[in-house]
Amino acid sequence: MAIFQPFCIVLILSSCVLAQSHGNVFNVLDHGAIGDQVTDDTKGFMDAWEATCRSSSASPTMHVPANKTFLLNPLNFRGPCSSANVNVEMNGKIIGLRDPSQWQCDRSGCDKWIHFKHVDGLFVHGSGTIDGQGEKWWHPSALAITDSNNVRISGLSFRNNPHVHVVLDSSTSVYISNLSIEAPGNSPNTDGINIRGCKNVFISNCRIKTGDDCISIVEGSSYLNINNITCGPGHGISIGSLGKSGSSATVEYVHVSDVVFSGATNGVRIKTWQGGSGHARHIIFERIRSRQSDNPIIIDQFYCPYQHCTTQASAVHVTNVTYSQIWGTSRRKTAVNFACSETVPCTDIFMDNININAAPHRRHPSKAMSSCQNAHGVARGKMVPDVPCLVRS
Ligand SMILES: *[C@@H]1O[C@H](CO)[C@@H](O)[C@H](O)[C@H]1NC(C)=O
Ligand SMILES: *[C@@H]1O[C@H](CO)[C@@H](O)[C@H](O)[C@H]1NC(C)=O
Ligand SMILES: *[C@@H]1O[C@H](CO)[C@@H](O)[C@H](O)[C@H]1NC(C)=O
Ligand SMILES: *[C@@H]1O[C@H](CO)[C@@H](O)[C@H](O)[C@H]1NC(C)=O
Repeated sequence: MAIFQPFCIVLILSSCVLAQSHGNVFNVLDHGAIGDQVTDDTKGFMDAWEATCRSSSASPTMHVPANKTFLLNPLNFRGPCSSANVNVEMNGKIIGLRDPSQWQCDRSGCDKWIHFKHVDGLFVHGSGTIDGQGEKWWHPSALAITDSNNVRISGLSFRNNPHVHVVLDSSTSVYISNLSIEAPGNSPNTDGINIRGCKNVFISNCRIKTGDDCISIVEGSSYLNINNITCGPGHGISIGSLGKSGSSATVEYVHVSDVVFSGATNGVRIKTWQGGSGHARHIIFERIRSRQSDNPIIIDQFYCPYQHCTTQASAVHVTNVTYSQIWGTSRRKTAVNFACSETVPCTDIFMDNININAAPHRRHPSKAMSSCQNAHGVARGKMVPDVPCLVRS
């Protein structure tokens, strides 16, 4: 008997470890997904998610294996989950069912493809690709995180999604890093990352090439830190549009740094509609490089992509905006454009160390210009182009 005891303990221990590691990981293949690019894998994914979300182990993981291509309807990954840390390890490739008439959506509709809602402590990571397969498809956002706290997303690639690639809505403490997002430069409304109603958002080390804004920040967002991003083609990093149809909108405490814009239509942009109210304030753009952006620095308080927009007195107040160390080239002659409202001017605009040359043709850079309407503030250090509406300090 005595001889067998250590053996038994080893056996018991190892089977415990096995059971636990298995009990922790929910592979979509074990829940019926096939990944042959033909079979509809929606149910396998949903079952694996249910098991992951229900699991009371410390850190359950839904596992999507590499080297497989999964075909999926909209996925509604609902929380709250039992564990405070829920992982989704996404290594395979995910494509959407091509024909929207085959889509089955629940009450929340088909506007989101992969949707995490009410999932706190979520970590989505891996080397996987989320491929929308382009314009044949319907118009949902590819990955949406709503009403969730403490979320991390890292490492994934997004290709050719027909609408916004990543949506963050009504969530706090969201960390996004190491994403690669790519859609054709001429694809409509393909924002890279769209942030709405979120607080404490950190975005770093992302490469974004899209047909619309690389990152757009809209109402109710505050305390955002965006660092080390390459953007272009695309419409740049935009705060707004804010204040559509007379609405009140506030975006504040946004810090954008170390961004390279290459061939983007805009660099750093703040855009607001006439007739709105609220604030875009406490914003810093620093260490930005523009390579041939159409409008490297722009505030547009007359944003109106439609034909009929009447002049209105109220506007979203743009104030306390710093532009520091912004260098490079502008494809248009006007490199700095502040178009602010007469009744609600832009105030406390700080510029420091700006050096942008016009380069309609790469080989012959020429002097860039600035345009200023109702903008007030202070400029210091090198100022090319000069922005004469600001007081020189
Ligand atoms: C996926 O394929 C690569 C290259 O063929 C291989 O190195 C890797 O082990 C495979 N991974 C899995 C999980 O099958
Ligand atoms: C992102 O990539 C960097 C550099 O490649 C790496 O050091 C870091 O660990 C990655 N971050 C995450 C959260 O995967
Ligand atoms: C910036 O992001 C890129 C990926 O887009 C990464 O390769 C690089 O290491 C990052 N740089 C720093 C200083 O973190
Ligand atoms: C201006 O914005 C910066 C950056 O967000 C902030 O640190 C500073 O306190 C703001 N200044 C005022 C007067 O609110």
